[in-house]
Parts: sequence; structure tokens; C-alpha cells
Amino acid sequence: MFIDLLRSRRSIRKFEDRPVEAEKIGLILEAVLRSPSSRGFNPWEFVVVDDPTIIKRLSTAKPHGASFLANAPLAIVVCADPGKSDVWVEDASIAALVLHLAATDLGLGSCWIQLRKRDYDDSTTAGEYAADVLGLPAELVVSAIMAIGYPAQQLSPHPTASLQRDKVNINRYGNRE
Ligand SMILES: Cc1cc2nc3c(=O)[nH]c(=O)nc-3n(C[C@H](O)[C@H](O)[C@H](O)COP(=O)(O)O)c2cc1C
Repeated sequence: MFIDLLRSRRSIRKFEDRPVEAEKIGLILEAVLRSPSSRGFNPWEFVVVDDPTIIKRLSTAKPHGASFLANAPLAIVVCADPGKSDVWVEDASIAALVLHLAATDLGLGSCWIQLRKRDYDDSTTAGEYAADVLGLPAELVVSAIMAIGYPAQQLSPHPTASLQRDKVNINRYGNRE
């Protein structure tokens, strides 16, 4: 049941020191390429990174929330061409979430690393830095980096009692379940 995957899913930031099999990488890529996108324009592109030197360089793309990437065996960088769709942010985000859930389903841990709207330093955005590391063409922007690997940490599922039921409104705002 898909709900069981959602119940156990967590963002994983510690990884075993072993590679992700090519077959699993292939399934993850199939999953992201099956993502829905507005009007089917598919404005995203992906860069699969398994070179530890490049992964380490990407782990410094922003000062906070990315350093754990240095110890991941695999990163998939989610890019998009804003010229191909006015809602590329939504399309790229959906693809990143599909990736996260597909990786979880394959027994892998993963975590989203936000680059869009983040800075490398005072003069360079995190996306510009990553684009330079990856040699991206000018029309592509980086949305996020997904760190992926076999989990080396066990995080408890969010308890059902912790769900914010008060965020749900029925028919009119303020009518709660
Ligand atoms: C849009 C988005 C951006 C995120 N950016 C980062 C990030 O830059 N670094 C990080 O360590 N985690 C990042 N996360 C993971 C969140 O911190 C995580 O989903 C949240 O704390 C809830 O934890 P859980 O996923 O284990 O339920 C991001 C998640 C989303 C959806």
C-alpha cells in the first residue's frame, strides 16, 4: 500500500559507504521521467552524479543544509529550463518528490537539498555554483540536489497523532473535520 510507504518515509542524511546499484538508479530515473508536468512540457533535466569528487564539490553549494551530501554515494541534480514552462518550479518539485518516494520504495534513503533561492556566497547563488561545477548550459537552472544512498540511520515515522488535522478544512475555511 502506498500509504505504508508514506507512513514510514523520512529524509535520510546519513548513508552507508556502498554504491547504489545501476539497476536501482535506472528505476529511479524511470520514475522521475514518468512524473506529471504541466501540459506535458517536461521542462526538467537531471544530472546523475556518482563521482565522489563532484559530489563533495556540490556539498558546499550553500553554507547550511548541504554538507551531509559529501558522504552520499549518489546525487541526482534536478534542473529545469524556465523557458520551457512558466510553472517549471512546480514541475521540478514534483519530479524531486517522485524521486524521493521512488528511492524510499527501493530501500534507499534520500534527502532534498534546496538550491533555488539559496546562496553560495555574497556574489554567487547556490544554483550558479552548482551549474558551474556541472557544466550546465546557460538555459538550465538548478532546483535541488537529491542525496541518495543506503540509509545509515533509522528515523522513527511521524506518529499519526502528530498529523496537523487542523490544517484541513471542509467546504469552507474554519470547518474542521
Ligand atoms: C522543498 C524542500 C527543501 C528542503 N531542503 C532541505 C535542505 O536544503 N537540506 C536538508 O537537509 N533538508 C532539506 N529538506 C528536507 C526537510 O528538512 C524535511 O523534509 C523536513 O524536515 C521533514 O522531515 P522528514 O522529511 O524526515 O519528514 C527539504 C525538503 C523540502 C520539501
